[in-house]
Amino acid sequence: MELIQLHQDFAAEIRGISLIDVVTDESAYEAVRAAFESHSVLVFRSQLISDEVQALFSRAFGPLEITKPGAVGTGTVYAHITNIGPDGNTVEPDAQLAKVVAANQLWHTDSSFKQRPALASMLGARIVPRSDSETQFVSTRAAWARLCESDQEKLANVIVEHNYLYSRDKIDKNMVSDEERALLPSVHRRLTWLNPANGQRSLYLASHAGRIEGMDEDRAKSMLKDLMAHCTDTPQVYRHFWRAGDAVLWDNRATMHRGIPWPSHEPRLSIRTTISACERDGLSSVLVN
Ligand code: OGA
Ligand code: MN
Repeated sequence: MELIQLHQDFAAEIRGISLIDVVTDESAYEAVRAAFESHSVLVFRSQLISDEVQALFSRAFGPLEITKPGAVGTGTVYAHITNIGPDGNTVEPDAQLAKVVAANQLWHTDSSFKQRPALASMLGARIVPRSDSETQFVSTRAAWARLCESDQEKLANVIVEHNYLYSRDKIDKNMVSDEERALLPSVHRRLTWLNPANGQRSLYLASHAGRIEGMDEDRAKSMLKDLMAHCTDTPQVYRHFWRAGDAVLWDNRATMHRGIPWPSHEPRLSIRTTISACERDGLSSVLVN
């Protein structure tokens, strides 16, 4: 296995190991798992990706989330991130699918609003637009390390409220159905996640974060905004340009990501599998009793 560093702080392309190797060979899994723990974003190029291979690969890392109601792929382990409607044509900009795509363009980490947060996500390209198609990533571990010690001390145990509505309301206040609202009450998470594999802490933040315990709303909003800006400053960004055959695995504990708009008439389909966090992933460091 060879690792090509993609950003000075994180992210690497993996060569010499394919998705299917990880499924069939325990030592390949161990090598990829170690690279995942240290690099946070792993890029696999030129893969023969099927839904089944992607799910098997992902399952090696932990249990998979079932896609929630209101998303394409609901009830399965596959979340379709796409602008292609049920009739096979690209959707109009005001369609629900287009709003989901727009919400993905806010800096976030996946599933921070869920009862059980996500360890990792894998996004596999299926249909890539002709124009540039880009997803951006930042390391919230590097962002944590850039804070001075006294800020780190103040922030390590701050408790943040996450709710799916905080991100969706930024796109359209009517975008979430009553059924979805009922299924997704607010959750409280620590602002940092400690990875037991390497003892490294990261900021745990997302577009779904809205309030801070014990702080008035305006102050909390401004603090979250400042922290988001600290994490996502341009030099910190790894820009991934999608090619057919790409699959990207990222650590939701230690990164944020966002999609970037592309011409809306060009079809794009990516499929995401999302791996739930377990105790060995440091889950208890972020949960609030
Ligand atoms: C995701 C996501 C961004 C993109 O799949 O979780 O945020 O560029 N995707 O599709
Ligand atoms: Mn996402």
